[in-house]
Amino acid sequence: MSILNKKDEMLEAIAKATSLQELEDLRIHYMGKSGLLTLAMKEIASLSLEEKKSFGANLNSLKKQIASSIEEHKLSLEEAAIEIKLAKESVDVTEPVRPSKEGKVHPITQATQEIINIFGNMGFSLAFGPEIEDDHHNFTALNIPANHPARQMQDTFYMNTEEDMVLRTQTSSVQIRKMSQEKPPFRFISPGRVYRSEYDQTHSPMFHQVEGLCIDKNINMGHLKWCLEEFLKEFFETSDVVIRLRPSYFPFTEPSAEVDIGYKLENGEIKIGSSDKWLEILGCGMVHRRVIENVGLDPKEYQGFAFGMGIDRMAMLKYGISDVRKLFESDLRWLRHHGFSVLDQPNLITGLSR
Ligand code: DAH
Repeated sequence: MSILNKKDEMLEAIAKATSLQELEDLRIHYMGKSGLLTLAMKEIASLSLEEKKSFGANLNSLKKQIASSIEEHKLSLEEAAIEIKLAKESVDVTEPVRPSKEGKVHPITQATQEIINIFGNMGFSLAFGPEIEDDHHNFTALNIPANHPARQMQDTFYMNTEEDMVLRTQTSSVQIRKMSQEKPPFRFISPGRVYRSEYDQTHSPMFHQVEGLCIDKNINMGHLKWCLEEFLKEFFETSDVVIRLRPSYFPFTEPSAEVDIGYKLENGEIKIGSSDKWLEILGCGMVHRRVIENVGLDPKEYQGFAFGMGIDRMAMLKYGISDVRKLFESDLRWLRHHGFSVLDQPNLITGLSR
């Protein structure tokens, strides 16, 4: 009997196989070195030209069908095996967490949550923007045109694309996104990753910033100072916070200021509080009228303040971390020591960090 007539029998046997081993035995029986189909292939040589043509073609198509039917059945057996394994595995969710196995919240996540909480309580909402940003949002609309010297203030990572794309160097880009998409008034913060080509004890090529923006009618610098002072008291969990605003320059604010916070050294450690020592912690100012115009608003009607702050730096100051690179090394021993408990959600009622 020609092997071609055995097709149904073979397919049926494959369909009936209940284990991967059984299926493999069938594969060898049909398609192995001395399998039925392999031997039949060899016989072709002894046939007449006419027979070769039709038998060869039929045999080839049979071989393909058998191979694909084995492959299909194999997949379904494998899937079934996984289902059975999963059904057998169960997790007792009522089991208490073993302290040694408990995951920790990274200090950057913790600081970000604390910052969101504090500004949230002051009525600021949250906004986000993309990390791969175009030149317009990262620079031009923020009053940093091409060839402006301020472009050199930040060592930008340029993307190798046809459009002018960069890894955003500042979360200030979100100011432009949000103001172009929505209607004033605005009061939001935008935490996120930013990128600059620099690397040493106090600089990492990827770091975190939080941007703040408040745009409305009749906003002045007094509002800015009050918000920052309130924020810093809550963040450092002390009423003993002194700040000074030092005149500075940012292309997107006028006037611009850098904020210094007073600190003392106690046993070589930085402690926030009134003193004659100052640390620079953030940049801020009144949003430049050109930025307001660039998003289609009238600077005579709407004005406001903005600020930008390094989250990593704030976390390092608050939690006593001296090398920014440690934050991103994923060293488990370091993370266990500096991490926060998952169950202690920071909030202003029970406390930020415990
Ligand atoms: N984008 C600035 C930077 O990355 C920080 C900054 C300064 C943001 C002043 C602001 C601002 O919104 O008003 O250095």
